[in-house]
Amino acid sequence: MGFEEVAQACDGEKWFQLYVVHQELAEHMVQRALTAGYTTLIITLDVSVNGYRERDIRNEFGLPLRFTPSLLLDGILHPAWALRFMRNGMPQLANFVTSQSTSLEVQAALMSRQMDATFDTESLKRIREIWPHTLLLKGLVRHEDANIAVQCGADGVILSNHGGRQLDCSISPMETLAEVAQVMDKPVLIDSGFRRGSDIVKALCLGADMVCLGRATLYGLAAQGEAGVDGVIQLLKQDVDRTLAQIGCPSTNLLNSKYLTSAK
Ligand SMILES: Cc1cc2nc3c(=O)[nH]c(=O)nc-3n(C[C@H](O)[C@H](O)[C@H](O)COP(=O)(O)O)c2cc1C
Repeated sequence: MGFEEVAQACDGEKWFQLYVVHQELAEHMVQRALTAGYTTLIITLDVSVNGYRERDIRNEFGLPLRFTPSLLLDGILHPAWALRFMRNGMPQLANFVTSQSTSLEVQAALMSRQMDATFDTESLKRIREIWPHTLLLKGLVRHEDANIAVQCGADGVILSNHGGRQLDCSISPMETLAEVAQVMDKPVLIDSGFRRGSDIVKALCLGADMVCLGRATLYGLAAQGEAGVDGVIQLLKQDVDRTLAQIGCPSTNLLNSKYLTSAK
């Protein structure tokens, strides 16, 4: 399902995340998102080159899917999954399939599935000029970079190391959150590694305005579809409430760094 169809299927606030594979294509996608009614644009910056994912290499995972002996064996061992796969056909990158750009350069960039490593502050400012709504930059961890983001017109940042999926030894955004939140007068969101409500409470204490979830909700989705995602969110909400009660704080709005340190 492409993002236009997603927009039509829901009436909530719509956020659109963009990888810049090619500047021309990026600007085209931004225009499409605008027309489709999205009001927040997230540009992800931390995949300027693809991470070296050894597990993907070992499992021969890549796009488009290749029918290797191990994939075929997997299909035989998971008949329900194989049936669904055969019914729906090869997974597509739906947003790109509907892209109207015919430029050879853009097609080559898409084929290589590699981000545009030349994307810089000037390229970012060009996107800022054509996007009139909220712009968030995702994938930075340092306060110096957060400042540059704001100078380029960002309305906020999402501190993230991509869940450690790009460079597993990269700095965790939790380590830098307090410092960034102190110097930023714009919203600071965070993701990477949030699995428990108490993790969320800690981030709010350190100055995060919002915590985003990646795999926690995906695990729910894989296990039980939409109900699984709802289930994970409910579990986390309960855990946030329980943690608030345990630390004696009546509301997430009142959390601050004092809840993390012992009284002296
Ligand atoms: C399967 C998968 C696909 C992802 N795809 C994207 C993506 O297209 N764009 C993006 O900005 N981040 C993507 N991410 C990273 C998440 O947005 C997020 O930064 C990360 O998962 C947070 O860490 P967590 O999974 O520990 O919560 C992806 C993560 C996973 C697990």
